[in-house]
Amino acid sequence: MKPETHRDSDWALYRRLLTYVAHYGGAFLLSIFGFVVYSGANVLLADLTQFLLDSLGQSAQIDIGVVSKISYWLWPQGDQTALDYARVAVPIAAIALAFIRAAGYFLGNYFMNIVARGVVHRLRTQVFDVLIRVPRVAIDQYSHGELVSKLTFNVEQVSGACSEALKTMLRDGLTVIALISYMLYLNWKLTLVFFAIAPAIAGVVLAVSKHFRRYSRRIQESMGEVTQLSNESVHAFDEIRMFAATEQQSARFEAASQFNRIQSLKLAFVQAVSTPIAQIVLAFALGALFWFALDPEILAGFTAGSLVAFIAAATQLGKPIRTLTNVQSVVQRGLAAAEDLFTQIDTPLERDDGTVSLSRAAGELTFDGVSFAYPGSDNPALNDLDLHIPAGSLVAFVGRSGAGKTSLIQLLCRFYAPDAGRILLDGHPIGELRLSDYRRQLAVVFQNIVLFSDTVRANVAFGQSDQIDDAAIFAALEVAQARGFVEALPEGLDTKLSDGGGGLSGGQRQRLAIARAVLKDAPVLILDEATSALDNESEAAIQASLDAAASGRTTLVIAHRLSTVERADLIVVMDKGKIVATGNHAELMASEGLYRSLYQQGFAGS
Ligand SMILES: Nc1ncnc2c1ncn2[C@@H]1O[C@H](COP(=O)(O)OP(=O)(O)OP(=O)(O)O)[C@@H](O)[C@H]1O
Ligand SMILES: [Mg+2]
Repeated sequence: MKPETHRDSDWALYRRLLTYVAHYGGAFLLSIFGFVVYSGANVLLADLTQFLLDSLGQSAQIDIGVVSKISYWLWPQGDQTALDYARVAVPIAAIALAFIRAAGYFLGNYFMNIVARGVVHRLRTQVFDVLIRVPRVAIDQYSHGELVSKLTFNVEQVSGACSEALKTMLRDGLTVIALISYMLYLNWKLTLVFFAIAPAIAGVVLAVSKHFRRYSRRIQESMGEVTQLSNESVHAFDEIRMFAATEQQSARFEAASQFNRIQSLKLAFVQAVSTPIAQIVLAFALGALFWFALDPEILAGFTAGSLVAFIAAATQLGKPIRTLTNVQSVVQRGLAAAEDLFTQIDTPLERDDGTVSLSRAAGELTFDGVSFAYPGSDNPALNDLDLHIPAGSLVAFVGRSGAGKTSLIQLLCRFYAPDAGRILLDGHPIGELRLSDYRRQLAVVFQNIVLFSDTVRANVAFGQSDQIDDAAIFAALEVAQARGFVEALPEGLDTKLSDGGGGLSGGQRQRLAIARAVLKDAPVLILDEATSALDNESEAAIQASLDAAASGRTTLVIAHRLSTVERADLIVVMDKGKIVATGNHAELMASEGLYRSLYQQGFAGS
């Protein structure tokens, strides 16, 4: 739990949010103007009581209130009676005020929504843009559900604070100011009673805000968990059923949702209790007010109409003060969410210290004493690797599960930097190459194949900036041995793949991913083979696609199949983060070692 020393950082937070609002400065000012008009008109409608009552009672002085004064100034009474005059002036004033108030309401609300929606849009796109650009380490610490929840739930919380809360605060804040100004205008001494209770009300609001923020943070975290579990469970549909885990999964979800419920209830409790407290404080002020107002001395300064108008204004203060305390929960939820989003936005992006540009590499790779441990892990995943891969060769990496094969790829992708040693491409340390230039040199098919919920065409052409014609896509599919099954799909290239390519077989998914890598046409092709057993036909198809894709490129394959390994120019045997042997199939079989025993076990899968 964070320490509650927020005063300073709160201001920083407000200021930062304000910079977002400032982006829509024009709309914001219009909105404020609208609410000023709205609250002013509201007060003047109360002031109309004075006009009406004093005209009715034929008071000695009628033009005491604001409306009556303006009316008498615009349209002198002449020789009409006060009653005849008021009969025309009061209805006209009432209707005119209603129009003005309506215009103010519209301006205030609509333009505030322009601001709020704009702020949310900017925040959401900023968080998204940062999320897809941060280094892997920054992503690794969150579950996918938490990240999704930040983009959806947290952003909506900020939107609530920006639209509803800001509107309420402006509208009701200005109404309070207008009412108090009016009361000061009618009788300033009596109004001072209200200032006496201001600290008490402020105290209530502050105490309540602190609780609101704390519970809001917890609600936010638990929403992350709820989203994560929902996400996970949707993807683990098959596993949950077949491992009879429905009960277990229900219980986990129930616990997460329960925590959320309890925190929300605590928030609701504070909210429900804060408004009555504020109202009671206000009631004391009203009591004192009545007591003073009925004092004969003070009474002498009032006409009947102005006394009623004063009391009407004082009682009208109740509602905006109530909504102002109430809206604190929304504000605090928004601030807690904004705090979290700003942390995301401030995450440093992936660093690119490279300065050397490179258009197309030949594809020679060198590992020079490379060691690496994942952040927070003591065991090195890679330990002092030395390896030279000539351009254009086909290299197979084999080794038991956990040997460090995928980790090696992660370093090659520059997702992580080695702790020691260097990796060189065409003689350049890869860290010195410009990141975008460098990544263009690699086409990777990852172990977990990700397809997007989009057409086959978009999946194959993923990331290509120029317009790709169908001929090029078919050519890539051809190389990947995927053309046949794609053409057999109901709408060919236009077939939309359901969530993650759910409608395809494992082999088909892999061949689509290979086609994507082929289309990228990079000098280095990396394939982290899935271990899943494929039927003979898919296996043969993938093998053929690999052969075709590998020609003319440096190809690195993490192999789980003998058929792949036998073709390799060089086989690298890895164990516990180290390279234990290198050679071709015949050489490695000739010596007693890990390779032979892996071979005898048939590698993995086939
Ligand atoms: N993100 C990570 N954070 C911490 N440790 C990791 C991470 N990914 C992998 N490891 C660890 O690093 C070691 C090497 O894992 P790696 O994924 O490279 O193995 P692999 O050879 O690809 O295995 P497989 O054949 O099963 O895919 C393992 O001990 C693993 O537990
Ligand atoms: Mg792996």
